[in-house]
Amino acid sequence: MWRALAGRFASSRQAATRLVSMSGSGAEARGTLANKVALVTASTEGIGFAIAKRLAQDGAHVVISSRKQANVDRAVAQLQAENLTVSGLVCHVGKAEDRQRLIDVALERHGGIDILVSNAAVNPYFGSTLDATEDVWDKILDINVKATALLIKLVVPHMEKRGGGSIVIVSSVAAYLPFPGLGPYNVSKTALLGLTRTLAPELAPSNIRINSLAPGLIRTKFSSALWQDKAMGDKLMEAMKIQRIGDPSDCSGMVSFLCSPDANYITGETMVVAGGALSRL
Ligand SMILES: NC(=O)c1ccc[n+]([C@@H]2O[C@H](COP(=O)([O-])OP(=O)(O)OC[C@H]3O[C@@H](n4cnc5c(N)ncnc54)[C@H](OP(=O)(O)O)[C@@H]3O)[C@@H](O)[C@H]2O)c1
Repeated sequence: MWRALAGRFASSRQAATRLVSMSGSGAEARGTLANKVALVTASTEGIGFAIAKRLAQDGAHVVISSRKQANVDRAVAQLQAENLTVSGLVCHVGKAEDRQRLIDVALERHGGIDILVSNAAVNPYFGSTLDATEDVWDKILDINVKATALLIKLVVPHMEKRGGGSIVIVSSVAAYLPFPGLGPYNVSKTALLGLTRTLAPELAPSNIRINSLAPGLIRTKFSSALWQDKAMGDKLMEAMKIQRIGDPSDCSGMVSFLCSPDANYITGETMVVAGGALSRL
């Protein structure tokens, strides 16, 4: 009997999850993230775009952003053409005024914020860790770590007004298994695991959960230097049990799950989506 009941419950949930709001149709959004307002940084392509798309498919109103207006316009048009409820604006996460505008515009358009996916990161350097200049360290830590913390600081009061929220930080499997030549980037991604763990108990009393995603090698522009070089790609592949490079869509379902009520008892964790690559500190 329990199995039959569980089966019925699962199939009705799956059906509900598949129902998606139609932008402009006036239909009420349905799905695990129905009517939630989600901000996704660096979401005009790659992993961020796949996450934005999935959150919208699961019922959220998604605010897309990145540094370039043309990229924002293209991504918004692409998702609206799929009848998803998305809007967009320019936000360079390293600029304080852009971070504030992201919050202001989301509040103005949607009246609140429930979800933040902090996905933006840079890596301007390849080489020996100790040869990295102070400028390189500053840029990587500013964008990857400091901007993430400062953006979280801005969204938290608005999540508190809604009675809670969910934050997902996009880290990397490089946080655990350093990529050769990417020392400062690896360190920044390990710092994000620390930020996640540090903030989890501070945000729990406000009913805000914070988790991270650690993708492995995913086929995007950002990682192209790794997978376009066959020798390097083969070497990285040795660390994986699933012998293929990941697709951005391999990451998006996990983020939607972390933002959904199904993850209500999960905070301070890092979910590794890396084809089985080693993931222990
Ligand atoms: N791909 C991988 O193998 C892999 C593995 C592990 C972790 N990750 C992480 O996944 C995240 C996304 O990487 P991706 O591979 O999906 O990259 P991607 O496909 O190259 O996309 C990068 C996105 O970031 C935007 N962007 C760049 N700098 C920004 C800034 N300062 N502020 C706001 N937006 C910015 C870009 O748009 P504009 O040019 O318009 O700004 C673009 O939308 C990063 O945190 C990365 O560290 C990637």
